[in-house]
Amino acid sequence: MEQEILRIKEKAFSELEAARTLEELQTIKVKYLGKKGELTRVLREMKELPPDERPRTGQLANEVRAFLESELDRRFQNLIEQEKQKQLASEAIDVTLPGRPVRRGHRHPLTLIMNEIEEIFTGMGFEIAEGPEVEWDYYNFEALNIPKGHPARDMQDSFYITGEMLLRTHTSPVQVRTLEKTVPRVPVRIIAPGKVYRRDDDATHSPMFHQVEGLLVDRHCTLGDLKGVLLTFARQMFGKDREIRLRPSFFPFTEPSAEADISCLNCQGEGCRVCSGTGWLEILGAGMVHPKVLENVGYDPEEVVGFAFGMGVERIALLKFGINDLRLFFESDLRFLQQF
Ligand code: DAH
Repeated sequence: MEQEILRIKEKAFSELEAARTLEELQTIKVKYLGKKGELTRVLREMKELPPDERPRTGQLANEVRAFLESELDRRFQNLIEQEKQKQLASEAIDVTLPGRPVRRGHRHPLTLIMNEIEEIFTGMGFEIAEGPEVEWDYYNFEALNIPKGHPARDMQDSFYITGEMLLRTHTSPVQVRTLEKTVPRVPVRIIAPGKVYRRDDDATHSPMFHQVEGLLVDRHCTLGDLKGVLLTFARQMFGKDREIRLRPSFFPFTEPSAEADISCLNCQGEGCRVCSGTGWLEILGAGMVHPKVLENVGYDPEEVVGFAFGMGVERIALLKFGINDLRLFFESDLRFLQQF
């Protein structure tokens, strides 16, 4: 039996030395020292020995048991320590690793175009004016010579908040708000960029879009001055070869009124699919400020004259970038936005 005990000791010791994980070690502990373990079994069989052999064998068995217990304990501590070191090593911060680059954003294409428009006009002496996006019917329509029931209101399907308050359908009310503050001073030279809202939604219309309004009021100015300003704008925005033309049109707040076209960017005026064969692309509405508008804000139309214009920023951006669906600007698709 002593042989058996020593054999168990050797076997158990070499196994626990070879154990590589806490689970393996635990299995070994159960295998030898557990309730049904090999050493436990031998100890139980002790009572079958002749009485005179019992003390020696018993002592040996107890020594082996104590030895294995302490060796197991030592290995447990070893492995726990090893595992801790391994974890620390894997968590260590490698200060020599290159940093992760921060992804840089950039301005939205519409903001880029808006800034460019602002730069061109401030370069000609225009100042930037602003007005509220939630506007009174008075400023949005009435003061601009568009009375209630006027058919011109049909061109601008509106979001009303109350009977007298709406989301502005154009930036033209900023003309009125500005002139109210400047009267009777001249000259007045402003552009008013901002968001406007209409009940429209398709490939070329969005319920929210952007306009830039322009206004100049002075003792003397003509349609020729307007055309010069617009030509300067067209050439700076779309290239020095651009030509411009004014076509008669109608707006209640200008008289005469015009639609301004630039020579087609694609065919240089020859006529192609982009310009529907006309050679021209419409970019804005304009005209000489209507005497009624000046009167409404307290200027004397006998003393001062003015011109005004209003352009859609999305339209300018579509033309400039050669895009045909305006919704791309509002879908936040990075594959689109990253191109600018
Ligand atoms: N407010 C007009 C629109 O949104 C555009 C416009 C036309 C503005 C003529 C003007 C102008 O200042 O003179 O349809």
